Amino acid sequence: MSIRFDNRVAIVTGAGNGLGRSHALLLASRGASVVVNDPGGARDGKGGDHAAADKVVAEIKAAGGRAVPNYDSVAERDSAANIVKTAVDAFGTVDIVVNNAGILRDKSFHNMSLDDFEFVLKVHLLGSAYVSHAAFPIMRAKSYGRIVMTSSNSGIYGNFGQTNYAAAKLGVVGLMNALRLEGQKYNVFVNSIAPIAGTRMTEDLMPPEIVKKLDPDLVAPMVAYICSEQCQHTGAIFTAGAGYYSTIEYREGAGIRLPGKPTVDDIAGNIDRIVDMSSMTRYRTSSEEVGAALAG
Ligand code: NAI
Repeated sequence: MSIRFDNRVAIVTGAGNGLGRSHALLLASRGASVVVNDPGGARDGKGGDHAAADKVVAEIKAAGGRAVPNYDSVAERDSAANIVKTAVDAFGTVDIVVNNAGILRDKSFHNMSLDDFEFVLKVHLLGSAYVSHAAFPIMRAKSYGRIVMTSSNSGIYGNFGQTNYAAAKLGVVGLMNALRLEGQKYNVFVNSIAPIAGTRMTEDLMPPEIVKKLDPDLVAPMVAYICSEQCQHTGAIFTAGAGYYSTIEYREGAGIRLPGKPTVDDIAGNIDRIVDMSSMTRYRTSSEEVGAALAG
């Protein structure tokens, strides 16, 4: 099977560096017309220049592909909508959105300013919502679309010093969980990637030999797959890094049923059974889970 994106239009946000660059290059090499979005700037989101996006557009064009740059920030409503407008103006539509743009403002919670907390949420969570919100009606109207949220094991499992980032990165999973239900019947599929890659975001957190193993080009094929027509999964969280590819899911324990009006002492007396995960169920929607709670 050869996965192709001919006649598909893709937006990759934050495509001027790291993972976004790899995603954009791969999609373009397989025939997609790509909007390379990146306002430039430092790892913490400060500053900006056109060079990052321009360089990736030049790389795509040099390899015979089609791409246009866009320098808007995902973190504001109007500029995020303009990213989608760029795709429509240049290529007539949008089929694929890879919400990849990201920044870091790490600090332990007690030292973190609320400005830094909010700005990280704005870029990762609201930015993903803004761009998807502008693209979704186009996809819904033509009954085709693929949306990727970029999550992180930091949000899924927790990481010291990243309360803002972790909240945002699990937030996009919540966004995916609900949006995939709204998109499913229109063939608009929404999945998440929790990548592991040696980029400027992570290069000073790991020894150079580990960074070398974590080539972002090893994540891009997983992302390209969930951007493809062949992908029939929706609402899944994939993880990829260093040649490892897997799926992350959550499960709910079998729990217990306590009669009458249980007291806090009843909870304390049964806590071992309440936290027991030896038997688990995977619910696909919140109503499925509520139904199970009511069933007994
Ligand atoms: P990176 O720093 O190399 O790339 C991020 C890109 O996003 C930069 O080019 C930056 O200019 C752009 N960007 C920042 N603010 C933006 C905004 N407001 N609008 C549009 N673009 C903006 O970092 P990397 O590692 O490639 O990260 C890509 C995504 O993957 C991020 O969402 C990050 O949180 C996520 N991620 C990365 C992991 C890793 O191991 N590198 C692990 C888990 C998640």
